[in-house]
Amino acid sequence: MTNFLLDTDIQQIVENLSDVSPNFSGKRILLTGGRGFLGRYFMEIFNQINNQHLEEKMKVIVLDNLITAGKEGSEIPNYENIDFINHDVIKKFKYDKKIDFIIHAAGIASPYYYRAFPLETLKVAIDGTENMLELAESNSAKLTFFSSSEIYGDPDSKNIPTKESYKGNVSCTGPRACYDESKRVGETLCNIFHNLRGVHTNTIRPFNVYGPGMQETDYRVLPNFTSRIKAGIPLQIYGTGNQTRTFCYVTDAMEGFIRVILGGVPGESYNIGNPNPEISVLDLIKIMETVSGKNIQYNVVDYPDSYPADEPTRRCPDIYKAKIQLNYEPKIDINEGLKRFISWSDKVYQGKI
Ligand SMILES: NC(=O)c1ccc[n+]([C@@H]2O[C@H](COP(=O)([O-])OP(=O)(O)OC[C@H]3O[C@@H](n4cnc5c(N)ncnc54)[C@H](O)[C@@H]3O)[C@@H](O)[C@H]2O)c1
Repeated sequence: MTNFLLDTDIQQIVENLSDVSPNFSGKRILLTGGRGFLGRYFMEIFNQINNQHLEEKMKVIVLDNLITAGKEGSEIPNYENIDFINHDVIKKFKYDKKIDFIIHAAGIASPYYYRAFPLETLKVAIDGTENMLELAESNSAKLTFFSSSEIYGDPDSKNIPTKESYKGNVSCTGPRACYDESKRVGETLCNIFHNLRGVHTNTIRPFNVYGPGMQETDYRVLPNFTSRIKAGIPLQIYGTGNQTRTFCYVTDAMEGFIRVILGGVPGESYNIGNPNPEISVLDLIKIMETVSGKNIQYNVVDYPDSYPADEPTRRCPDIYKAKIQLNYEPKIDINEGLKRFISWSDKVYQGKI
């Protein structure tokens, strides 16, 4: 295991990207949020692409203020050509060498944390994005902004699966507003910089990515469940358990993200996720039982104060656009993905939720 991730997964991603990764040759990349769940994958993948595929290495600058990076994120690996700088992207970032790609993945992504840090959540997606767009403009760099499937809010059933053109059903004052509304403004900013100032922008709307490397205390659904299983205590299902989600294994998601970064049509947004299967939280538990061979105890409870109620009823991406334009196709089915995640979390988690 490399820094809490599976080497076999990193290798699989790098192989799947071998048709496009030479386009990173000799480029300089600025990655924000590089010590979070997805950021740590980017670091490992870029290091492997450098080692295995590029004669002229790419240089990577990683920014993170470590606000939610946890123990895993705070242990910074020492890789040639990858430099870490502790920086809060809400503040301007000055850099004196030419940057070719900016990946703005800094954010406060877990509902538990954005409830605890609503202003920081809002500012990283608005001020942080504007700062990165200004840097992209002055460098003529391509910028990819990590938005979220949450910008769609709670779509009505005729907009499920949800296409990129769906305008959203979102509350500007609800308990999730600091996250979904700020991601919407972040996308608006990208659009303005693209239309008015000619910056090459893309936005990615990830749909529930999961996999090894998620912090045990991240409080998103899968780490929460597997930590409780490890501790031998019943799961707590918030609301009714009938809310549906789709789950995208991290190798598929990372491949999709990098295809957008290298090949996204300027100004466009892309859903990245796995539309199959769309399952309820109660169905998820049944699949986890099959995969782990364990009988899982659970209780259905009201939303705790620490977790924002107002959850979307259903969430499922339409990924046709990424398929047609970027050749994106998820490959890992839910049983295989959960098998990898559960066996990893069983080794790494301590059952401390
Ligand atoms: N993982 C998913 O399923 C998912 C789904 C939808 C959207 N996203 C978005 O993708 C991005 C990456 O997600 P993730 O799962 O890796 O999240 P994460 O919370 O694991 O990591 C985000 C990182 O950003 C850093 N950060 C936060 N505010 C910062 C600031 N002001 N300056 C510098 N660094 C800051 C944190 O310390 C953390 O290391 C986020 O923007 C998130 O909103 C992720």
